[in-house]
Amino acid sequence: MSSRSFLIAFLFAASMLCFAYAGDGKWLMHVPDRDRTRINPYVSNADARAAGAKLFARHCAECHGSDAAGLHGHPALVSARIRHASDGELQWLLRNGSLRKGMPSWSSLPEQQRWQIITYLRELQQTTPQP
Ligand code: HEC
Repeated sequence: MSSRSFLIAFLFAASMLCFAYAGDGKWLMHVPDRDRTRINPYVSNADARAAGAKLFARHCAECHGSDAAGLHGHPALVSARIRHASDGELQWLLRNGSLRKGMPSWSSLPEQQRWQIITYLRELQQTTPQP
């Protein structure tokens, strides 16, 4: 193998690895319908948004970045996938995590706080141009 084709093969393998780390959205297939359609009681609620911002900085920013653009190979939360995911789907993921892929479960937080984080995420998505 020439060194050039080796380099191309290496870059290809490396990019596949990054892709795998950046999340594949498979968790979405596990969300039951009754969770998918749940309504966030704090949609557009300013107090919830402020509380959610603090919770996000404390619990989520270390992996997803303070602007949710993704960090160290952890997925962005301002992506098309997460913009299109329903609030109920996000609530399900936060409660259950995606443990084998490195996303912790946040079931120790009260449900109310998970909704607040989702409210804040929606604001971030609105104020961040789609990548
Ligand atoms: C220890 C690192 C870590 C922390 C802390 C963390 N996450 Fe994650 N998160 C991950 C990883 C890794 C994935 C990819 C999981 C997968 O692909 O199944 C992920 C996936 C996600 C996804 C789905 C992304 C996608 O594109 O499918 C959302 C939404 C999410 N996290 C939100 C949060 C929120 C909100 C918090 C704070 C409460 C948080 N995460 C804290 C590591 C973390």
